[in-house]
Amino acid sequence: MIEISNVSKRFQHSNAVDGLTLQIATGELTVLIGTSGSGKSTTLKMINRLIEPDSGSIRLAGADIRQQSPEVLRRHIGYAIQSVGLFPHWTVEQNIAAVPALLKWPAARIRERVTELLELLHLPAETFRQRYPHQLSGGQQQRVGVARALAADPEVLLMDEPFGALDPVTRGSLQQELARIQKLSGKTIVLVTHDIDEALQLGQHIVLMDKGRIVQQGKPESFLLQPANDFVRDFVGQSDAGVRLLGLTTVASRVQATARADGEPIRSDCTLREALSQFVSRQVDRLPVVNEQGQHAGALLFCDLLGGRAS
Ligand SMILES: Nc1ncnc2c1ncn2[C@@H]1O[C@H](COP(=O)(O)OP(=O)(O)OP(=O)(O)O)[C@@H](O)[C@H]1O
Ligand SMILES: [Mg+2]
Repeated sequence: MIEISNVSKRFQHSNAVDGLTLQIATGELTVLIGTSGSGKSTTLKMINRLIEPDSGSIRLAGADIRQQSPEVLRRHIGYAIQSVGLFPHWTVEQNIAAVPALLKWPAARIRERVTELLELLHLPAETFRQRYPHQLSGGQQQRVGVARALAADPEVLLMDEPFGALDPVTRGSLQQELARIQKLSGKTIVLVTHDIDEALQLGQHIVLMDKGRIVQQGKPESFLLQPANDFVRDFVGQSDAGVRLLGLTTVASRVQATARADGEPIRSDCTLREALSQFVSRQVDRLPVVNEQGQHAGALLFCDLLGGRAS
């Protein structure tokens, strides 16, 4: 658990973070979202002591983070940022290996870990390991930044818009990869994003900030079903709230095992939002469904999109 208690940070004339109290559960993916300048990055940087608060306290696993030096603290906290911050004169391999090297891992283990992470982030290891950051595209640099954050398998991962420079396809596959890593490893992840769909898809707990304070926090569906005020309603996109709600439920929860339909099947792990798009583009009212192994699983009926909100 990360416990942020009544933390404030003031820069010149404005409160970047204003009396923030927030508990970040262990093993959960918490998303910080909000307008530009609302204090998200400042909050993240206070957790790994890149910025020191003016007042209040932050505890990690029960201990005040000021009890450790920032350098020691950061070995246990992975940090990936949009502007990447790779060391320009170090190769991709050296960049990713930064923390494992500090922790004095044996060379063979470091090399293995770098290979594993590059493959995980869809960068063929032999092509990329010896390159320098300037020889990579922005999206590739960003992925190396994420690999570096994951390298020493830290308990806590702070990610500040880590997928901002990626095309939608790569972004989608890395979002799925992050969700998978999180489920498998049970890591505590704090992710900052501007993208409400990314927040709804990945966040187990979402915190919406404005002017250094929390406006609303809770599960993804609570933002769509019970927005606290007009600011929240506007932020989640009032007119698209219904479609976004469909994005939180999978086809598996509505498929009828004995029903039949013709055409190209959709997978049961698609969201109802993706299914809606298929209904409309194919001009049909039922879709055949296969499970994750590609086996026939029944059909999804258009009228069942409106069923109870099981997930
Ligand atoms: N080093 C700094 N010096 C002065 N002001 C700063 C500094 N860092 C942040 N601020 C100010 O603090 C406020 C919060 O900044 P922060 O970077 O936390 O916002 P953010 O929510 O991450 O925004 P964005 O979505 O644009 O990244 C802003 O008004 C910003 O201008
Ligand atoms: Mg920011």
